[in-house]
Amino acid sequence: MRGVEPVPSDMSSQASERSRVTLSSLAKMARAGQPFACLTCYDATTARHLARAGLHVLLVGDTAAEMVLGFGRTIDMDLDVLIALTAGVKRGAPDLVVMGDMPFMSYQAGEDEAIKNAGRFLTEGHADIVKLEADASFGPLVAKMTRAGIPVCGHIGARPQRVAMTGSYGSAGRTRGEADAIVADAVALAEAGCVQLLIEAVPEAVTEAVLEAISIPLIGIGAGPACHGQVLVWQDLVGLTDRPPTFAAPAADLARAYQEAGRAWVVRVANRAVGPSPYTAKPEPGSGIAGAVGGGRSAGGQERPVASRSEPRV
Ligand code: KIV
Repeated sequence: MRGVEPVPSDMSSQASERSRVTLSSLAKMARAGQPFACLTCYDATTARHLARAGLHVLLVGDTAAEMVLGFGRTIDMDLDVLIALTAGVKRGAPDLVVMGDMPFMSYQAGEDEAIKNAGRFLTEGHADIVKLEADASFGPLVAKMTRAGIPVCGHIGARPQRVAMTGSYGSAGRTRGEADAIVADAVALAEAGCVQLLIEAVPEAVTEAVLEAISIPLIGIGAGPACHGQVLVWQDLVGLTDRPPTFAAPAADLARAYQEAGRAWVVRVANRAVGPSPYTAKPEPGSGIAGAVGGGRSAGGQERPVASRSEPRV
């Protein structure tokens, strides 16, 4: 399947009107030459806003190890935590395709364990599809997951979970031999049943060759504009990471916005400019003090039942 046609101009108005995004609707977009947008996402609030922004796919990546938990490597991501984050993202964006990323050692050690872990992403994490970093040797595992009813996206090209072998989060496919191997991986994984592939940090010629060889949607990151879908790490896109990859041009400066908001709060607190309490005491017969108040914390620090934060506050 060849790459994409020019981007439709008004994606945001489409977002409010469009129906649920599914794996089939993404395949249809790919066939029609209409690019789809994917970002990493690790929480329900961001997911809700990205759904309103017109995103199609949210990837709950193992980059959560770096972006959420502060590790320096993706291989430190914990399976249970990533499944819980995936469920949060799906709650925030129920109408988008949510992709759960299988962390290091959740699928490499044995096929039965891998299938059960992938299944947990669907049942507990409410993911629509799982992603695993793979070469052709993972074909038999992909076939078994597919037979079990688990849609799989194969992540080819640069594979950060192999950092201990490669020594860095570099690029891939820059020699003839490597490029041919990536195309062979793509074909083997598509034949094994992958419904999508994701290709990371390769020259555009490799992307083109993969697109020639397969007929399933290809999502790219640092792999040029020809892919059917494009993904970036959210924090790179909004300017929150200190050293984003060169292919991830920031679209916002949230680092500055965060720091300005943080500083403004520090000043407000220092000036006791936080505003009055919105809670008035309920008169209680025989009590001389403002005893029972609605919501918030009592004087003893104990939590009182409060309305949901999304309900109107009185
Ligand atoms: O884990 C992740 O966020 C990813 C993207 C960088 C593609 O795999």
